[in-house]
Amino acid sequence: MKNLKFAPNVFVVKDNYDIVIVCKCEGKCYITIDGKQYRENGSGIFKIHTPVHKITVPQSVLDEAGEYTVHFHPCSSKKDYWTKMDEAEKETFKFKALKKEEGINLYYTADIHSCYESAEKCCTYFGDDLDILVVNGDYGESNSREAIEELNNFIAKLTLGSIPVIIGRGNHDARGNMSELITDYISTDDGKTYYTYKIGPIEGIVLDCGEDKLDGCDEYGGVNYFEQYRRDELDFLKETAPFGKNKYRIAFCHIPFSYKFRDDIFNIDTELYHDWSKELDRIGIDCLICGHMHSYSLCPGEHEEKFEHKYPLIVASKKSGSILGGSAITLMKDKIICRFTDEDHNVTREITIDR
Ligand SMILES: [Fe+2]
Repeated sequence: MKNLKFAPNVFVVKDNYDIVIVCKCEGKCYITIDGKQYRENGSGIFKIHTPVHKITVPQSVLDEAGEYTVHFHPCSSKKDYWTKMDEAEKETFKFKALKKEEGINLYYTADIHSCYESAEKCCTYFGDDLDILVVNGDYGESNSREAIEELNNFIAKLTLGSIPVIIGRGNHDARGNMSELITDYISTDDGKTYYTYKIGPIEGIVLDCGEDKLDGCDEYGGVNYFEQYRRDELDFLKETAPFGKNKYRIAFCHIPFSYKFRDDIFNIDTELYHDWSKELDRIGIDCLICGHMHSYSLCPGEHEEKFEHKYPLIVASKKSGSILGGSAITLMKDKIICRFTDEDHNVTREITIDR
């Protein structure tokens, strides 16, 4: 498809997929699955004046069909009357639905900070056996559309539009001149970057702390309202029903919010985060997987924390200069195995969580 910048990204959110399609020009975009059309909600109007389209489809429909077709009609000048579309294009993408009950392979990356080349090397660990890619925040810069689109290009290269992706936003993604646009390029629940998800036998939650300092910090110049956002997120957690006991239950959050940071400017909203943590214990999770620290750790035990929690917390990514490390996570009936892996796919440590 000549006007597609790269393959679509298929993000998991609730029991749907948000399919993100980035185009080289403005135009009308929709998806068909088994002949049925899926569109963005434009209150009856196709969105033309945007290079990025996000189309939600039910997981059950795409899983059953095993493929989806992207349609794009370039439109260089939408007129008041008699608009003419350019020649229509379409391309069909195969989709690998998660049908396994165990031996499920997730590759986890975070803190890429624009080092996409290193991240790509890490993320090819499972080869064709990859079932889900997880990208947990601090992707790159958010100061232009082009910079944001590097994330989607990275995901496209790894998944070819065929493998589901779970994505969380990091504090650095909330910074930058165009950071308000990042939600157009990733999955959200009605625009929010925190949400529950279900895929196959997995149930989980993606949380977002937003920035790592209080809203009044001079650096931000008053452009954020994350203190309210985090309070709203607590309400959302309180409304979330406990996950099924026979499910794999995995939570992701970029910032390990229970960690005590050396510099006090980062030790914010401690009581509120303690309440988040209590809710995660109530909902019941096998583990919380984080990034942000640029070095691996497992808690309780390997980092000073501000409060206790029942769930294991793994910071499953590292960064040293431009060299990254991620984690190859395999879900087995009785345990979750998390292997810390480097660019050359060497396993530097293996953690087992009994279920
Ligand atoms: Fe971070």
